[in-house]
Formats: sequence, structure tokens, C-alpha cells
Amino acid sequence: MSSSRKARILSPDPEGIAEAVRHLRAGQVVGMPTETVYGLAGNALDPSALSLIFSTKERPTFDPLIVHVAGLERKDRLAQLESLHLVDATSFSRKGRERVNLLMEKFWPGPLTLVLPKAPAVPDLATSGLPSVGIRMPSHPVAQALLEASGLPLAAPSANRFGRISPTSPEDVMEELGDRIDLILDGGHCEVGVESTVIQCQPDGELLLLRPGGTSAREIEQITGEALATVSKPESLVSPGMLESHYAPGKSLYLLPGPVPQLNIGKMQVFEPALGNLPPASTLAVLLMSGDAKAAEEKLAALTGLPIIAKSLSRSGDTGEAARNLFSFLRELDHSHAAVIFAEPCLEERGLGHAISDRLRRASFRQKR
Ligand code: TXA
Ligand code: MG
Repeated sequence: MSSSRKARILSPDPEGIAEAVRHLRAGQVVGMPTETVYGLAGNALDPSALSLIFSTKERPTFDPLIVHVAGLERKDRLAQLESLHLVDATSFSRKGRERVNLLMEKFWPGPLTLVLPKAPAVPDLATSGLPSVGIRMPSHPVAQALLEASGLPLAAPSANRFGRISPTSPEDVMEELGDRIDLILDGGHCEVGVESTVIQCQPDGELLLLRPGGTSAREIEQITGEALATVSKPESLVSPGMLESHYAPGKSLYLLPGPVPQLNIGKMQVFEPALGNLPPASTLAVLLMSGDAKAAEEKLAALTGLPIIAKSLSRSGDTGEAARNLFSFLRELDHSHAAVIFAEPCLEERGLGHAISDRLRRASFRQKR
């Protein structure tokens, strides 16, 4: 990994795709846009490409990768994944098989990862030695073009250094990994902005929510007519990648005790120890879920006596817009001259709100210990 090497951002035209395909076929890794976040893609069936993914990201090998696929046109997509030697669902009941096919039919291509028993051809490195593999069919046209043209299943974790904020633009990937990879395909800013929802599919048809994300858990429940099971602690045993401290900006992030309009001096006193340790006149960054950034800046400046930079994820309170902006605004505040970041809690627990509060909780974890 030479630090002088600098990645190129490729336009996703046929030439760019062809160059990325040559790279992937040669066992190299490529920055790939998806509708959720950018991934660091490599041939899922090639252990040396997989090991390059882990080393490039500095990711511990106990954190399994998601395998991306395209071109599943058969009605029985589960059978097609079996014939591609990615999945072995022989232990599945009829109900289990039907349910998996139903989810794939309704939510693929899109931000849903299904964890299924793996076939022997999938290297253990991809799954961190687990007997299951996470599979997803992305909807981003550039990801689909790359998958189609390469003819390979592509393992792709988010294209950030381990434990850091996921990238949602080619420039973010450049910032995270530009010194370590050659190519980043330009797919613009990611539409969804948070990672896929991860569901473990059990042989009897039971579904377990491992990670809230771009597909709403409620919509899945509506389709199946059954409540999703959730992981009781410690979740890291079921889904090893779900470490508590994740998605963390470099600066400390504190969750505010409520929306800014409801804050008063008493509530801000919780932060006395943290604020007291800052150099005098430090600037505070504030990430708002909704509303007007200027009004919040004035109110918080009055409450804390400190300069404030606020950014609002969605003025109108649209959760989709908030999710789309979440990681890029966090990254921006992380780069600002502010000393620490405060974030409003996300009170909308449905749909993408669930994913937003999950990511904020993980980003703020270090301060809670
Ligand atoms: O939206 C996404 O899912 C993005 C884009 C690039 O597709 N990818 C992504 O990958 O978020 P990553 O590596 O950052 O997160 C993958 C997570 C793992 O950390 C783990 O929690 C879960 O998916 N996972 C993958 N395979 C699993 C398995 N066999 N069993 C349980 N959990 C698994
Ligand atoms: Mg990640």
C-alpha cells in the first residue's frame, strides 16, 4: 500500500466499466457506487481479493462481507443463487423458501441484504467463517453494470476505513481510501444514504432483523404478515460486524437530550463535564434532524455562550432526505473547526428513522462509556 498512489475517479461509461472489470478480474479492488453507500468491491470467490478488501479497509476479519449479485431473472431466485454456488438452502422448508423468494421479489434490487446458508464455493474469508452469507442485489445502475459486465459476484463492504463514516460520494471514497486503491467509479451521490437492512433468513421462514437500514422493517412485516424477530444482546455474536462503536466521526459526538426547540439550560447541564474540558470559546457543531439551522444556531449560542455551526438534515423533516444527508453532513461537521459534534436524537423510529437513530447511537457510543 504505497501512500503515493492516488485513485482515479472514473466516469461510468463503457470504457470506465471495462477498466474496472479488468481490475476486478485481476484480483484488484474497486470503489463501487450503490444506492446505499459506496462499496469497496472485489471478486467474492477469490480469497486473495477478499483479503485485499480487508487489508485496504483495515477491517478485522471477524466482520463478514456482503456479496452483491445482479441478473437474477429466474422466478425462483433462491434456486438461481443455489445454481450460482453462492447459497445452499437445502435445509429450508417450503415456507422458508417461499418467504426468501417473496422478499427478493418485493425488495430486490434494493437496500436489503439477506443472510442465507452459504454454499461451499463461497470462501470462508467472505463470511468470517460463518456458515451463512449476506447477499444483496443493488439497484444502482452503475453497480448493476459492473456486476453484469464482470460476471462476478462482488463482495463489497462500505468503502471507508474500518470504524469510520460510510462514504456517500466518490470524493468521500477518495478521502477514505484514495491512497490505497486505483479506481473509483463515479455514481454520484447515493440516493438512500444509509446501508442496507440486514435480515437473517431461518430455514423455517422466521426472519431476524440484524441491522436496520434502507428498507423499512415495517414494510417487510407488511409483506410477510409477521413481525420480525430482533436480536437480543449481545448482537455481536449473531452479526459480528455490528460493533457498538461504528460509523464514528473523528470528533466526539454527543446525542442531545431532545430536539433543539425543547432544550433549556437545565437540559444542557448534562454536557457540563464535556464542555468544561474544551478550550475557551470553542465552536460546537450541531446536527439537526429537521428545521432551520440559523434559528438553532442562535438558540444554542444563547444557551451555551459558544459559537455554533448547525446543519439541518432536512428542513422539512423528510426522513428520506435526512438519511441521504446523514453521513455527508457528519463528515462535513467532522472537517469543520468545531471542537465537538452534538446531534439531535432522531425521534422517528419507523422506516429510515430507525436506521438514522441506529447510526447516531453507534457514532455516539464512545462518549457513553
Ligand atoms: O448497503 C450496504 O449494505 C453496503 C453497500 C456497499 O452494499 N455494504 C455494507 O457492508 O454496509 P458492511 O461490510 O459495511 O456491512 C456488512 C454487515 C456486517 O458488518 C454484518 O453486520 C452483516 O452485514 N453481515 C454480513 N454477512 C453476515 C452474515 N453471514 N451473518 C450475519 N451478519 C452478516
Ligand atoms: Mg460499513
